[in-house]
Amino acid sequence: MAVLVTGGAGYIGSHTCVQLLEAGYDIVVIDNLSNSKMEAVRRVKELTGKDFAFIKGDIRDSALLDEIFRKYDIESVVHFAGLKAVGESVSVPLRYYHNNVTGSIMLFESMQRNGVKNIVFSSSATVYGMAEKMPLREDSPLGAVNPYGRTKLMIEDILRDIYVSDNSWNIILLRYFNPVGAHPSGRIGEDPNGIPNNLMPYISQVAVGKLKELSVFGNDYPTPDGTCIRDYIHVMDLADGHVKALEKLREDPGVVVYNLGTGKGSSVMEMIAAFAEATGIKIPYRITGRRPGDAPVSYADPSKAEKELGWKAKRDIIDMCRDLWTWQSQNPDGYGD
Ligand code: NAD
Ligand code: UFG
Repeated sequence: MAVLVTGGAGYIGSHTCVQLLEAGYDIVVIDNLSNSKMEAVRRVKELTGKDFAFIKGDIRDSALLDEIFRKYDIESVVHFAGLKAVGESVSVPLRYYHNNVTGSIMLFESMQRNGVKNIVFSSSATVYGMAEKMPLREDSPLGAVNPYGRTKLMIEDILRDIYVSDNSWNIILLRYFNPVGAHPSGRIGEDPNGIPNNLMPYISQVAVGKLKELSVFGNDYPTPDGTCIRDYIHVMDLADGHVKALEKLREDPGVVVYNLGTGKGSSVMEMIAAFAEATGIKIPYRITGRRPGDAPVSYADPSKAEKELGWKAKRDIIDMCRDLWTWQSQNPDGYGD
């Protein structure tokens, strides 16, 4: 029996593949490499010393999916494949709806045709929209504020509807907070295309000399130092959360939602300080205006995952910065061309 990992060449997918292989799972990976490189797959094999089938293809290719389900003995699916840039989703919404929503529907249809009814889906804290009350619990009000977030909410709803129609499905919706860091070996990590949108990849590219200085988007928020607060979570902790979720699927849980966060918020200024503490590198920065759409504060209540999955984040922001720097300094150009 194997686990099909969609989007397994990507940032979170590659780290999860390592942890799944280390936990003894057989995996099959499908990825169209639209936002990732084959080199990541090669390094997952190198790190674990294990081989697995990699299929370069799109989840919107039904015939290919059916072939994979027929050829391999797939027990469950971990579904990462999707586009994830919030700003881009505002400019090209149809690409996002088609890739993420149509792609997921085609995957679920193929699962249904082939009798595979166990899935772990990559949702996001973005489904909580501009929530006021912290920490965010799984039953906090939902409401996405951009097309990317709406694709996540739609896919969550589609999966809930599938379960209502056939309760032999088992569905785990994981809402990730802010994944950062890298495998401690520095062999795999996040390799954004072009100039990073997100804080920590931006910081590490300033540190390695590829970018001049960080723009801090606003210091007039209602927070202790005026900069936004997020729940940064080490990508290895997130990967471990998927191993726990797959174990949970064996208990026939029906549809369940879990926040994967640390429960601790850190401000932009605290992350700059943590990076200096972990690496000795001071990041030059300039305070600029607010970035439209940023929530002042977002952090999880992760207690449901601890209680029901036996999962808790173990790594702190110093670990996140250190491991990010190991990856960035050893791979200044990411996976290269
Ligand atoms: P990523 O872009 O590194 O990985 C996604 C992978 O999916 C890429 O390798 C890409 O090539 C592949 N892919 C995209 N569309 C595909 C398609 N139609 N068919 C086949 N492969 C396809 O992103 P990531 O950070 O690893 O995120 C993984 C998942 O987690 C995504 O669904 C994302 O929305 C979600 N998520 C990410 C974050 C974050 O901050 N990184 C936060 C919350 C949720
Ligand atoms: N920030 C800066 N300068 C930068 C980049 C970011 O000051 O160059 C600030 C932002 O204003 C924000 C914080 O750093 O206050 C974190 O920003 P990120 O872009 O790293 O993360 P977000 O919380 O905005 O977004 C992330 C993912 C989204 C996801 C969202 C909620 O990128 O995909 O978390 O889960 F939807």
